[in-house]
Amino acid sequence: MFPFWDLAIEPVLRAAGARRVVEIGALRGDNTRRIIEALGPDSELHVIDPSPGFDPSEHERDFGGRYHFHRALSLDVLGSLPVVDAALVDGDHNWYTVINELRLLEQVSRAAGRPLPVLVLHDVCWPYGRRDLYYDPATVPAEHRQPHRRAGMRPGRSELLPHGGMSAGHWNAEHEGGPRNGVMTALEDFLAEWARPHRIEVLPLYFGLAVVVDDAWLAERPQLGEVLDHFATAGFKDRLIELGESIRLRAMAHHHTLLAEREASEPRTDAPGPGPARSDTIAPDRRSRLLRRTP
Ligand SMILES: C[S@@+](CC[C@H](N)C(=O)[O-])C[C@H]1O[C@@H](n2cnc3c(N)ncnc32)[C@H](O)[C@@H]1O
Repeated sequence: MFPFWDLAIEPVLRAAGARRVVEIGALRGDNTRRIIEALGPDSELHVIDPSPGFDPSEHERDFGGRYHFHRALSLDVLGSLPVVDAALVDGDHNWYTVINELRLLEQVSRAAGRPLPVLVLHDVCWPYGRRDLYYDPATVPAEHRQPHRRAGMRPGRSELLPHGGMSAGHWNAEHEGGPRNGVMTALEDFLAEWARPHRIEVLPLYFGLAVVVDDAWLAERPQLGEVLDHFATAGFKDRLIELGESIRLRAMAHHHTLLAEREASEPRTDAPGPGPARSDTIAPDRRSRLLRRTP
């Protein structure tokens, strides 16, 4: 989610005048410093992640009482948090978890007489917009789990691949689409049952970002409507294309590095005899095809 920070997330949080924010799914904690610095000194950030890839005590030390880390599953925490102004939703990417996160956020806000928090959700497009991922399948009740296995995905193909593909190490639903499958499906189902006027904007790159704003927020903070209007301008679309291209180029450079490392670590098929040798197991014509095709 964090590549969208400058372009979309910070402008939305600022326009909302958000003071208390929850971040669901922090990974390496890339967003924390940005969020706290953007929100100002009287802000409060709650971060929920059962297995963070960073040491939260560093942030607790740096940000004193403004930073609260919850080493837990979102659904075990959200119902007991104070009402928040905005929620960044990027934890477990499956229908059951996401719809219940949204339901809990809504219940807490309604009980406090506040609008639905401004929602920023990542992974609303391919691959997890219409397909469940389970970080740990045991945390989702069996009746809400799609058939799943550890195998990779390819755009345009519903079935998982026999080998390779995207995120092959994750527990992915066997099929894409259909009811109760994926993050976007969860968001749509939540919005249908919530049934209140709102705006939704989707930025369809880097796995997709959705911003959902209750009309009550738009009345309270007209600046929010202006930020969302700006998403539709040609200038914004240019910046979105630039962002997409810079992400693509970085991914391509990374992929080339991995290919080169693999070549360097595998023995040459034309090596004259036993013993360590430089690798060259990918035939040169196949290698150049691979390099041309890489995303
Ligand atoms: C895609 S990463 C988050 C990336 C992060 N938002 C960013 O922009 O860099 C997903 C994170 O969600 C966490 N996670 C998985 N299941 C969760 C759950 N049920 N509740 C909260 N976090 C969860 C994982 O441990 C992982 O760190």
